[in-house]
Amino acid sequence: MRDTAPQTSTSDSVLDAIGHTPLIALDRLGAGLPSRVLAKLEFYSPGGSIKDRAALRMIEAAERDGRLRPGGTVIELTSGNMGTGLAIVCAVKGYRMIAVMSEGNSLERRRMLAAYGAQVELVPQAAGARPGQVSKEDLELVEQRTRELVEELYAFWPDQFENLDNATAHEMTTGAEIWEQTGGTVTHFTAMAGTGGTLVGVARALKKRNPAVQCYGGEPATAPYLAGKPVTDTSHQIQGTGYAHDLSLWDEDLVAGYVTATDEDAIETARLLATREGIFGGFSGGANVSGALQLAREAPPGSVIVTVVPDTGLKYLSTNLYPD
Ligand SMILES: Cc1ncc(COP(=O)(O)O)c(C=O)c1O
Repeated sequence: MRDTAPQTSTSDSVLDAIGHTPLIALDRLGAGLPSRVLAKLEFYSPGGSIKDRAALRMIEAAERDGRLRPGGTVIELTSGNMGTGLAIVCAVKGYRMIAVMSEGNSLERRRMLAAYGAQVELVPQAAGARPGQVSKEDLELVEQRTRELVEELYAFWPDQFENLDNATAHEMTTGAEIWEQTGGTVTHFTAMAGTGGTLVGVARALKKRNPAVQCYGGEPATAPYLAGKPVTDTSHQIQGTGYAHDLSLWDEDLVAGYVTATDEDAIETARLLATREGIFGGFSGGANVSGALQLAREAPPGSVIVTVVPDTGLKYLSTNLYPD
Protein backbone atom coordinates (compact mmCIF):
# COMPACT_ATOMS: atom_id res chain seq x y z
CA MET A 1 0.00 0.00 0.00
CA ARG A 2 1.25 3.50 -0.79
CA ASP A 3 1.55 6.18 1.82
CA THR A 4 -1.09 8.87 1.44
CA ALA A 5 -0.39 12.54 1.88
CA PRO A 6 -1.33 13.77 5.36
CA GLN A 7 -4.76 15.42 5.45
CA THR A 8 -3.95 19.05 6.10
CA SER A 9 -7.38 20.63 5.95
CA THR A 10 -11.05 19.96 6.57
CA SER A 11 -13.95 20.78 4.24
CA ASP A 12 -17.01 22.78 5.22
CA SER A 13 -19.31 20.30 3.48
CA VAL A 14 -19.28 17.32 1.13
CA LEU A 15 -19.75 19.79 -1.73
CA ASP A 16 -16.03 20.53 -1.53
CA ALA A 17 -15.39 16.88 -2.40
CA ILE A 18 -17.08 17.21 -5.81
CA GLY A 19 -14.62 16.88 -8.70
CA HIS A 20 -10.81 16.66 -8.36
CA THR A 21 -11.07 13.04 -9.57
CA PRO A 22 -8.11 10.79 -10.44
CA LEU A 23 -6.94 10.34 -14.04
CA ILE A 24 -5.69 6.79 -14.58
CA ALA A 25 -3.60 5.38 -17.45
CA LEU A 26 -5.26 2.23 -18.84
CA ASP A 27 -1.91 0.64 -19.65
CA ARG A 28 -3.16 -2.93 -19.26
CA LEU A 29 -6.18 -2.57 -21.57
CA GLY A 30 -4.14 -0.41 -23.93
CA ALA A 31 -1.03 -2.63 -23.96
CA GLY A 32 0.51 -2.78 -27.43
CA LEU A 33 -1.44 0.19 -28.77
CA PRO A 34 0.54 3.04 -30.33
CA SER A 35 -1.16 5.65 -28.11
CA ARG A 36 -2.02 5.94 -24.43
CA VAL A 37 -5.57 5.93 -23.04
CA LEU A 38 -6.37 7.69 -19.75
CA ALA A 39 -9.68 7.59 -17.90
CA LYS A 40 -10.96 10.07 -15.35
CA LEU A 41 -12.77 8.20 -12.59
CA GLU A 42 -15.86 10.25 -11.88
CA PHE A 43 -17.32 7.76 -9.41
CA TYR A 44 -14.97 9.30 -6.85
CA SER A 45 -17.40 12.19 -6.52
CA PRO A 46 -19.83 12.08 -3.52
CA GLY A 47 -22.83 11.07 -5.67
CA GLY A 48 -20.79 8.46 -7.49
CA SER A 49 -21.01 10.26 -10.83
CA ILE A 50 -19.78 13.05 -13.07
CA LYS A 51 -23.12 14.82 -12.71
CA ASP A 52 -22.31 16.21 -9.26
CA ARG A 53 -20.18 18.84 -10.97
CA ALA A 54 -23.00 20.19 -13.15
CA ALA A 55 -25.54 19.90 -10.31
CA LEU A 56 -23.47 22.12 -8.02
CA ARG A 57 -22.82 24.73 -10.68
CA MET A 58 -26.45 24.94 -11.85
CA ILE A 59 -27.78 25.34 -8.29
CA GLU A 60 -25.21 27.97 -7.30
CA ALA A 61 -25.86 29.97 -10.48
CA ALA A 62 -29.62 29.89 -9.74
CA GLU A 63 -28.99 31.05 -6.16
CA ARG A 64 -26.90 33.93 -7.42
CA ASP A 65 -29.49 35.27 -9.85
CA GLY A 66 -32.58 34.60 -7.72
CA ARG A 67 -34.11 31.70 -9.71
CA LEU A 68 -33.77 29.67 -6.53
CA ARG A 69 -34.58 31.14 -3.12
CA PRO A 70 -34.08 29.77 0.39
CA GLY A 71 -36.45 26.88 1.10
CA GLY A 72 -37.30 26.51 -2.61
CA THR A 73 -38.07 23.33 -4.57
CA VAL A 74 -35.81 21.87 -7.24
CA ILE A 75 -37.23 19.52 -9.90
CA GLU A 76 -35.21 17.70 -12.54
CA LEU A 77 -35.81 14.97 -15.07
CA THR A 78 -32.99 12.56 -14.68
CA SER A 79 -31.77 9.07 -15.43
CA GLY A 80 -30.58 9.13 -11.83
CA ASN A 81 -27.12 10.62 -11.77
CA MET A 82 -28.08 14.28 -12.15
CA GLY A 83 -30.86 13.69 -9.65
CA THR A 84 -28.36 12.28 -7.17
CA GLY A 85 -26.00 15.23 -7.66
CA LEU A 86 -28.86 17.68 -7.17
CA ALA A 87 -30.17 15.73 -4.18
CA ILE A 88 -26.77 16.03 -2.50
CA VAL A 89 -26.56 19.76 -3.16
CA CYS A 90 -30.18 20.21 -1.98
CA ALA A 91 -29.55 18.14 1.18
CA VAL A 92 -26.57 20.31 2.12
CA LYS A 93 -28.25 23.60 1.22
CA GLY A 94 -31.74 22.78 2.55
CA TYR A 95 -33.87 22.70 -0.64
CA ARG A 96 -36.72 20.28 -1.40
CA MET A 97 -35.82 18.05 -4.34
CA ILE A 98 -38.06 16.08 -6.71
CA ALA A 99 -36.47 13.75 -9.28
CA VAL A 100 -38.65 12.72 -12.22
CA MET A 101 -37.35 9.54 -13.82
CA SER A 102 -38.39 6.69 -16.08
CA GLU A 103 -39.34 3.33 -14.65
CA GLY A 104 -36.76 1.96 -17.10
CA ASN A 105 -33.85 3.23 -14.98
CA SER A 106 -32.15 1.00 -12.47
CA LEU A 107 -33.47 0.38 -8.98
CA GLU A 108 -30.22 1.42 -7.29
CA ARG A 109 -30.60 4.92 -8.70
CA ARG A 110 -34.06 5.37 -7.26
CA ARG A 111 -33.09 4.12 -3.84
CA MET A 112 -30.01 6.30 -3.71
CA LEU A 113 -32.13 9.39 -4.48
CA ALA A 114 -34.61 8.52 -1.77
CA ALA A 115 -31.76 8.04 0.70
CA TYR A 116 -30.71 11.67 0.21
CA GLY A 117 -34.27 12.77 1.03
CA ALA A 118 -35.34 13.42 -2.56
CA GLN A 119 -38.86 12.59 -3.70
CA VAL A 120 -38.81 10.26 -6.72
CA GLU A 121 -41.56 10.64 -9.30
CA LEU A 122 -41.56 7.52 -11.50
CA VAL A 123 -42.95 7.77 -15.02
CA PRO A 124 -44.16 4.55 -16.70
CA GLN A 125 -42.35 3.60 -19.92
CA ALA A 126 -43.92 4.04 -23.36
CA ALA A 127 -45.99 1.11 -24.69
CA GLY A 128 -43.75 -1.70 -25.92
CA ALA A 129 -40.61 -0.29 -24.22
CA ARG A 130 -38.04 -2.70 -22.84
CA PRO A 131 -37.45 -2.53 -19.06
CA GLY A 132 -33.89 -1.42 -18.28
CA GLN A 133 -33.67 0.43 -21.60
CA VAL A 134 -34.77 4.04 -21.62
CA SER A 135 -35.75 5.18 -25.11
CA LYS A 136 -36.35 8.52 -26.74
CA GLU A 137 -40.11 7.98 -26.30
CA ASP A 138 -39.65 7.25 -22.59
CA LEU A 139 -37.65 10.45 -22.17
CA GLU A 140 -40.44 12.47 -23.81
CA LEU A 141 -42.91 11.13 -21.25
CA VAL A 142 -40.55 12.06 -18.40
CA GLU A 143 -40.18 15.57 -19.79
CA GLN A 144 -43.94 16.05 -20.04
CA ARG A 145 -44.40 15.06 -16.36
CA THR A 146 -41.54 17.35 -15.31
CA ARG A 147 -43.20 20.34 -17.00
CA GLU A 148 -46.49 19.62 -15.23
CA LEU A 149 -44.83 19.44 -11.81
CA VAL A 150 -42.69 22.56 -12.32
CA GLU A 151 -45.81 24.59 -13.13
CA GLU A 152 -47.83 23.10 -10.32
CA LEU A 153 -45.16 23.74 -7.64
CA TYR A 154 -43.48 26.93 -8.98
CA ALA A 155 -40.23 25.01 -8.71
CA PHE A 156 -36.76 25.67 -10.08
CA TRP A 157 -36.04 23.31 -12.99
CA PRO A 158 -32.27 23.27 -13.66
CA ASP A 159 -33.08 21.67 -17.05
CA GLN A 160 -29.72 20.06 -17.66
CA PHE A 161 -30.40 19.71 -21.40
CA GLU A 162 -30.82 23.48 -21.83
CA ASN A 163 -28.72 24.91 -18.99
CA LEU A 164 -25.43 26.44 -20.14
CA ASP A 165 -24.02 26.04 -16.62
CA ASN A 166 -24.04 22.27 -17.23
CA ALA A 167 -21.38 22.59 -19.92
CA THR A 168 -19.62 25.41 -18.06
CA ALA A 169 -19.15 23.12 -15.04
CA HIS A 170 -17.14 20.75 -17.23
CA GLU A 171 -15.24 23.59 -18.86
CA MET A 172 -14.21 25.06 -15.51
CA THR A 173 -13.58 21.77 -13.67
CA THR A 174 -13.43 18.48 -15.67
CA GLY A 175 -11.62 19.95 -18.67
CA ALA A 176 -9.33 22.16 -16.61
CA GLU A 177 -8.38 19.15 -14.44
CA ILE A 178 -7.63 17.00 -17.52
CA TRP A 179 -5.33 19.70 -18.86
CA GLU A 180 -3.50 20.00 -15.53
CA GLN A 181 -3.32 16.25 -14.90
CA THR A 182 -1.84 15.51 -18.33
CA GLY A 183 0.52 18.47 -18.07
CA GLY A 184 -1.02 19.78 -21.30
CA THR A 185 -0.10 16.66 -23.28
CA VAL A 186 -3.71 15.55 -23.99
CA THR A 187 -4.34 15.25 -27.74
CA HIS A 188 -7.82 13.65 -27.87
CA PHE A 189 -10.94 13.52 -25.72
CA THR A 190 -14.04 11.39 -26.17
CA ALA A 191 -17.28 10.93 -24.24
CA MET A 192 -20.72 9.50 -24.97
CA ALA A 193 -23.22 12.35 -25.14
CA GLY A 194 -26.29 12.50 -22.93
CA THR A 195 -26.95 16.22 -22.59
CA GLY A 196 -23.59 16.80 -24.28
CA GLY A 197 -22.43 18.88 -21.29
CA THR A 198 -19.35 16.77 -20.63
CA LEU A 199 -18.10 16.65 -24.22
CA VAL A 200 -18.81 20.29 -24.99
CA GLY A 201 -17.46 21.66 -21.70
CA VAL A 202 -14.29 19.60 -21.75
CA ALA A 203 -13.75 20.37 -25.44
CA ARG A 204 -14.02 24.11 -24.73
CA ALA A 205 -11.51 23.90 -21.90
CA LEU A 206 -9.00 21.86 -23.88
CA LYS A 207 -9.32 23.66 -27.21
CA LYS A 208 -9.00 27.03 -25.46
CA ARG A 209 -5.60 25.87 -24.20
CA ASN A 210 -4.59 23.98 -27.36
CA PRO A 211 -6.82 24.33 -30.45
CA ALA A 212 -5.25 21.16 -31.93
CA VAL A 213 -6.91 18.89 -29.33
CA GLN A 214 -9.45 16.65 -31.10
CA CYS A 215 -12.74 15.85 -29.41
CA TYR A 216 -15.00 12.96 -30.44
CA GLY A 217 -18.66 12.58 -29.56
CA GLY A 218 -19.75 9.08 -28.58
CA GLU A 219 -23.10 7.56 -29.55
CA PRO A 220 -24.81 4.17 -29.42
CA ALA A 221 -24.12 2.18 -32.61
CA THR A 222 -27.83 1.97 -33.47
CA ALA A 223 -28.47 5.69 -32.85
CA PRO A 224 -25.67 7.80 -34.39
CA TYR A 225 -28.01 10.80 -34.53
CA LEU A 226 -25.51 13.60 -33.86
CA ALA A 227 -23.20 12.12 -36.50
CA GLY A 228 -26.06 12.52 -38.99
CA LYS A 229 -26.24 8.81 -39.73
CA PRO A 230 -29.36 6.59 -39.86
CA VAL A 231 -30.92 5.76 -36.49
CA THR A 232 -32.10 2.14 -36.55
CA ASP A 233 -33.03 1.65 -32.89
CA THR A 234 -33.34 4.24 -30.13
CA SER A 235 -33.35 1.75 -27.25
CA HIS A 236 -29.99 0.67 -25.90
CA GLN A 237 -28.40 -0.06 -22.55
CA ILE A 238 -25.96 2.84 -22.28
CA GLN A 239 -28.02 4.69 -19.68
CA GLY A 240 -27.73 8.46 -19.50
CA THR A 241 -26.56 8.80 -23.11
CA GLY A 242 -27.69 8.45 -26.72
CA TYR A 243 -31.15 10.04 -26.76
CA ALA A 244 -31.12 10.53 -30.54
CA HIS A 245 -32.42 14.08 -30.57
CA ASP A 246 -30.96 17.54 -31.07
CA LEU A 247 -28.92 18.79 -28.11
CA SER A 248 -29.11 22.50 -27.26
CA LEU A 249 -25.67 22.39 -25.68
CA TRP A 250 -24.05 20.69 -28.68
CA ASP A 251 -21.47 22.63 -30.68
CA GLU A 252 -20.50 20.95 -33.93
CA ASP A 253 -17.47 23.26 -34.29
CA LEU A 254 -15.83 21.61 -31.28
CA VAL A 255 -16.25 18.08 -32.63
CA ALA A 256 -13.60 16.43 -34.80
CA GLY A 257 -15.68 13.30 -35.37
CA TYR A 258 -17.79 10.56 -33.80
CA VAL A 259 -17.25 7.09 -32.38
CA THR A 260 -19.93 4.52 -31.60
CA ALA A 261 -20.37 1.67 -29.15
CA THR A 262 -22.79 -1.25 -29.19
CA ASP A 263 -24.31 -2.49 -25.93
CA GLU A 264 -21.91 -5.44 -26.24
CA ASP A 265 -18.88 -3.13 -26.64
CA ALA A 266 -19.96 -1.18 -23.54
CA ILE A 267 -20.54 -4.31 -21.46
CA GLU A 268 -17.43 -6.16 -22.58
CA THR A 269 -15.20 -3.13 -22.02
CA ALA A 270 -16.75 -2.38 -18.60
CA ARG A 271 -15.99 -5.97 -17.56
CA LEU A 272 -12.42 -5.71 -18.85
CA LEU A 273 -12.00 -2.43 -16.98
CA ALA A 274 -12.95 -4.25 -13.78
CA THR A 275 -10.88 -7.41 -14.33
CA ARG A 276 -7.79 -5.82 -15.94
CA GLU A 277 -7.67 -2.32 -14.49
CA GLY A 278 -9.55 -2.73 -11.20
CA ILE A 279 -11.98 -0.01 -12.29
CA PHE A 280 -15.66 -0.69 -11.59
CA GLY A 281 -17.66 1.58 -13.89
CA GLY A 282 -21.11 1.68 -15.46
CA PHE A 283 -22.29 1.05 -19.04
CA SER A 284 -21.25 4.49 -20.29
CA GLY A 285 -17.76 4.04 -18.77
CA GLY A 286 -17.42 0.87 -20.82
CA ALA A 287 -18.70 2.66 -23.93
CA ASN A 288 -16.39 5.64 -23.40
CA VAL A 289 -13.30 3.48 -22.93
CA SER A 290 -14.29 1.37 -25.94
CA GLY A 291 -14.39 4.61 -27.98
CA ALA A 292 -11.08 5.79 -26.56
CA LEU A 293 -9.45 2.46 -27.47
CA GLN A 294 -10.78 2.82 -31.04
CA LEU A 295 -9.17 6.26 -31.23
CA ALA A 296 -5.92 4.90 -29.77
CA ARG A 297 -5.76 2.41 -32.67
CA GLU A 298 -6.34 5.10 -35.30
CA ALA A 299 -4.72 8.28 -33.93
CA PRO A 300 -1.12 9.27 -34.73
CA PRO A 301 1.25 7.15 -32.57
CA GLY A 302 2.09 8.77 -29.25
CA SER A 303 -1.31 10.43 -28.88
CA VAL A 304 -2.78 10.91 -25.40
CA ILE A 305 -6.47 9.93 -25.47
CA VAL A 306 -8.57 10.94 -22.47
CA THR A 307 -12.08 9.83 -21.56
CA VAL A 308 -14.25 9.61 -18.45
CA VAL A 309 -15.80 6.78 -16.48
CA PRO A 310 -18.96 8.74 -15.63
CA ASP A 311 -20.27 6.55 -12.82
CA THR A 312 -19.84 3.40 -10.73
CA GLY A 313 -20.79 -0.18 -11.48
CA LEU A 314 -22.51 -0.24 -8.09
CA LYS A 315 -25.39 1.62 -9.74
CA TYR A 316 -26.03 -1.29 -12.11
CA LEU A 317 -25.93 -4.34 -9.89
CA SER A 318 -29.54 -5.18 -10.76
CA THR A 319 -28.74 -5.22 -14.51
CA ASN A 320 -26.88 -7.70 -16.74
CA LEU A 321 -23.67 -5.61 -16.63
CA TYR A 322 -21.97 -7.67 -13.94
CA PRO A 323 -23.85 -10.99 -13.68
CA ASP A 324 -23.38 -13.66 -10.99
C1 LIG B 1 -23.94 7.35 -16.58
C2 LIG B 1 -23.87 8.52 -17.48
N1 LIG B 1 -22.95 8.56 -18.43
C3 LIG B 1 -22.85 9.59 -19.29
C4 LIG B 1 -23.71 10.66 -19.23
C5 LIG B 1 -23.61 11.74 -20.27
O1 LIG B 1 -23.09 12.95 -19.80
P1 LIG B 1 -23.54 14.35 -20.44
O2 LIG B 1 -24.98 14.57 -20.06
O3 LIG B 1 -22.63 15.34 -19.81
O4 LIG B 1 -23.40 14.26 -21.92
C6 LIG B 1 -24.70 10.66 -18.25
C7 LIG B 1 -25.64 11.75 -18.16
O5 LIG B 1 -26.61 11.72 -17.43
C8 LIG B 1 -24.79 9.58 -17.35
O6 LIG B 1 -25.72 9.54 -16.39
